[in-house]
Amino acid sequence: MLYGGDYNPEQWPTDIHLDDIEKMVEARVNLVSIGIFSWARLEPANGEFSFGWLDEIIERLTNAGIGIDLATGTASPPAWLTIEHPEILPMTETGVRLGHGSRQNFCLSSPVFRRYASRLAGELAKRYGNHPNLRLWHISNEYGCHSAHCYCPDSARSFRTWLEEKYGDIEALNEAWGTDFWAQRYTSFDQVDVPRATPTLKNPGQVNDFWAFSSDEMLACYLAEKAAIREHSDAPVTTNFMGLFPPTNYRAWAPHIDVISDDSYPDPNSVFAARETALVSDLMRSLKDGQPFYLLEQTTAAVQWRERNARKRPGSFALQSLQRVARGADAICQFQWRQSVRGAETFHSAMVPHSGRDSRIWRDVVGLGDVLSRMGEIVGTRVPTEVALLMDWQSQWHRAAAIGPGPNRTLEAIAAWHGTAFERGYPVDFVFPDSDLSGYCVIIVPELFAMSKDTASKLLEAAQSGAEIIVTAPTAVLDETGRAATGGYAGVLSELLGVRVVDHCLPGGEVNDLVDPRVDAISAAMTATSAIDRVELDVDPRTPLFRVLDAIASPRPAISGEYWAEELSIDDDVDVLATFVGLDLDGLAAITYRSCGEGGGTYVATDLDSAGRAALLRVAEARTRIAGNRIEAPAGVEAVRRGPAVFLLNHGDAAAQVAGICGRDLISDSKVTGHLVVPPRSAAVVVTD
Ligand code: GLA
Repeated sequence: MLYGGDYNPEQWPTDIHLDDIEKMVEARVNLVSIGIFSWARLEPANGEFSFGWLDEIIERLTNAGIGIDLATGTASPPAWLTIEHPEILPMTETGVRLGHGSRQNFCLSSPVFRRYASRLAGELAKRYGNHPNLRLWHISNEYGCHSAHCYCPDSARSFRTWLEEKYGDIEALNEAWGTDFWAQRYTSFDQVDVPRATPTLKNPGQVNDFWAFSSDEMLACYLAEKAAIREHSDAPVTTNFMGLFPPTNYRAWAPHIDVISDDSYPDPNSVFAARETALVSDLMRSLKDGQPFYLLEQTTAAVQWRERNARKRPGSFALQSLQRVARGADAICQFQWRQSVRGAETFHSAMVPHSGRDSRIWRDVVGLGDVLSRMGEIVGTRVPTEVALLMDWQSQWHRAAAIGPGPNRTLEAIAAWHGTAFERGYPVDFVFPDSDLSGYCVIIVPELFAMSKDTASKLLEAAQSGAEIIVTAPTAVLDETGRAATGGYAGVLSELLGVRVVDHCLPGGEVNDLVDPRVDAISAAMTATSAIDRVELDVDPRTPLFRVLDAIASPRPAISGEYWAEELSIDDDVDVLATFVGLDLDGLAAITYRSCGEGGGTYVATDLDSAGRAALLRVAEARTRIAGNRIEAPAGVEAVRRGPAVFLLNHGDAAAQVAGICGRDLISDSKVTGHLVVPPRSAAVVVTD
């Protein structure tokens, strides 16, 4: 199990370097990422490389047995480069060139930037590419984090080339963007521009393509550096991802990344921090279809960039780290090794805090190093899953580019449905339009706004062979090219679901409490859908949904939807599980079910609350065999199986008693004979007999 963090020795003098090594050994650090922001030190002037300082650091780390994740240093171009070539600086949509003095100050399409960045990557690879202690290459840093979209002339030029390659002739682009609307028709690719600031709404096709283009440009930057590395080195290559980050299609990137790696900073101030950790871990593990991933960055305690920077509660650093291991991480690394004393991240926590050795942080860091050193048998193993959640970056770009019909809640919906599975004790595989869906018992499709016929057929096949598919609105409103579905939205799924969406009737919004009935006689006599913020659902007592709700709690939880409601047209063989209550929606179907081959399709025509989601998952559970593989855990405890072990992660504030488990706990290094107490905010990792 790898353990360590970003190491920025150029910020420190030699005596501190010696102390660093001593402390790293004490904490059992075995991997550090070096040089991530070192371009100005590595190449102080154009073509003059200075590797002496890095040689020294690498030698010290190597002598101490600490592995190296060597960065190409290209995430922050030096001043000499932006002065010699100001055209590499990114431009905003209003035409402002951004300046030097921060980081990620480069245009993704700049050929000049790519040339210089690849040259540096190549020089580093020539020098260190075959170093026996090199574990990993770390290209750039968090692509797109600060400047995912650039609107400069270089970007516009590359965008035109990209469009020409995609569409071949300009008429195809006109068709795809619907340019006959508002006289936007082009007669040549030379006329097309990046979607810079416009007087009013932008063309959604143009915006969507620009997002796809920008993701490809980031990947092209990465690939250019990778190619330069590959001329001299066969060591694995990565770049650090950022969870569900919308601008980059990580699934499309995954084949080019040797080990998926992630940076993740859930807010310790939120009770959903554990959910978020579970979600991003599941996502990272899924990008390469179940292969383990590396966590390259998290905090030991607090970040400095939120409005309120809560520190992790006692125990949480180790607990969340083990949570990531449970869900597929083979490396736990932090930003950063030693807390800076100057610069923008002075108040971001680190492994060696300002206060030094006498601190909870340092004790936690040493403690986690000790625990992880006992996790060797977990490395490389898989996490068995039977629940999948379908997501698609391209659909998200269409959703973001579309103007209306309602608020874009895709990421919230993904998080909500993943959270439902998390609370019930299921790890989830994220699946994508190109994934193999066979083998999953339950597949959740939250808000897949733009869907192709191929994806719809895959879902149908999965249902026919026994999977339960839960689809939530708004899904398949567009096809994969961004064209609105005609003849009823979601029609592409009608064989699976037996429903078509006739219309969106979004409730909620601004409630006009300025109406004074004593004087505003006309307005006061009217009601509007804005009066309904949350739509109650009436569940049919003859349905399994009703019975499950009854079993969840007494009195039976009422369920409701928010943000979104639809009018459906329904085939005869479709069961209506619940209807909307109130105003123009009264009595209309809100949740439907159709059996389909060996499985079935559920459609949810609203943004369902958590009791509703939990109940639907339990209905699906009863129809499949997944419940048999659930580990029953007490409140507060997340139980996950990975390889030979069961991880019991107690997120709660009270000790939890777990029964029926036998084996060896890797944390306490003791035998477990049927009964175990897991203290608050801590974990047991039991290799079962
Ligand atoms: C990102 C970056 C790091 C650091 C952290 C701070 O993850 O990659 O360099 O800025 O954020 O949280």
